[in-house]
Amino acid sequence: MPSPSARIVGIIPSGKDGWEVHFEAMGRKQAGEDIIMLSVGDHDFDTPSETVEACVRLVRQGYHHYTQLPGLPRLREAMARASTRCTGVATHADEVLATPGGQAALFAAVHVALDPGDHAIVVAPYYATYPGTFRAAGAGFTVVEAHAEDGFQPDAAAVEAALRPNTRAILINTPNNPTGAVYTRASLEAIADICRRHDLWLVSDEVYWTLGVGEHVSPRSLPGMAERTLVVNSMSKSHGMTGWRIGWLTGPADIVSLLINLNLVSTYGLTDFVSRAAIEALDNDWGVAEIAKTYAARRKVFLDAVRGMNDVVVRGSAGGMYVMLDIRAIEPDCEKFAFAFLHAEKVSVMPGSSFGDAAAGHIRISLCQPDDLLHEAARRLKRFISSYRSKAA
Ligand SMILES: Cc1ncc(COP(=O)(O)O)c(C=O)c1O
Repeated sequence: MPSPSARIVGIIPSGKDGWEVHFEAMGRKQAGEDIIMLSVGDHDFDTPSETVEACVRLVRQGYHHYTQLPGLPRLREAMARASTRCTGVATHADEVLATPGGQAALFAAVHVALDPGDHAIVVAPYYATYPGTFRAAGAGFTVVEAHAEDGFQPDAAAVEAALRPNTRAILINTPNNPTGAVYTRASLEAIADICRRHDLWLVSDEVYWTLGVGEHVSPRSLPGMAERTLVVNSMSKSHGMTGWRIGWLTGPADIVSLLINLNLVSTYGLTDFVSRAAIEALDNDWGVAEIAKTYAARRKVFLDAVRGMNDVVVRGSAGGMYVMLDIRAIEPDCEKFAFAFLHAEKVSVMPGSSFGDAAAGHIRISLCQPDDLLHEAARRLKRFISSYRSKAA
């Protein structure tokens, strides 16, 4: 067999992608074990029925054909209206590129911002696909840690100190996966200031924007930032549509126009009936308020249950779909902790180290389970920690 390209082999060079605990748990669950899965960020509920029914109708109506490469015009308009609300900047359809999910929008953003050999800064803890996305573009990156003790707010001075002559972009994510941290306006202003002074792109992953606290602040709305901010958006989380694969990138019209060529050679546009159902879901906000309410209530249920636990410190955890627990006082090796918790109590959580060293010593709890299971998982966590401690003693 001829050898594969170094570029593809290099996307995950270690062969270890951080999902080991989750995949063991998933395999055991599929084999029939009763495991509480708190390791993945996918809703436990179906897509809102209005969206499903619209899609079925549209399939029956014959919407089975190719669509325009950057997205159907009406889809781009609906996405632009959503971007106007998300980012606080009036957005036109030609500033939007429809993509199969936020991940493809991120891929597009990284590819348009960086050439092979260029350098980026990634604020950690970060979503697990970020490093591979830069490697796929042949770009280097430096991980700059946000600290647990600061509630995982980005450290602008450390970001600036990590800049190199070939740095072209900074990537941030708020509300954050995995920490649930919601970046403050002051944190975003400090990052924006660096971007302006050093003429950098800011890739801003805002896929959890409807699941924050209070008003969402997008760095795109800050002075001089609309021309250099590429916003990653998605209907996966806000509209309960993870498996539909629909998202978009918002950026300057010239950049979006260039990126149409990436869609030409990669996806050749989106699924016709999914695009049309997405227009209706966006126009009617189907599910958005209910989903936000569900996660806010679950966050409260879980945090109330763990708050009194000895040696467990809640970090970040203000928005998004996750809670981050600092377990360093019990076990510094969070992967060991997560495997032991799975084996002893049949609860699957993500080791924080899967999201970069900044989250090492933490576990990420996904809130994608109903209240009773979250209660039960918290009960098992408490039991596990006391037996873990007594074994260690
Ligand atoms: C921070 C973040 N960005 C992007 C994505 C990609 O989401 P999707 O491709 O489903 O839109 C996810 C998914 O979990 C995420 O957590």
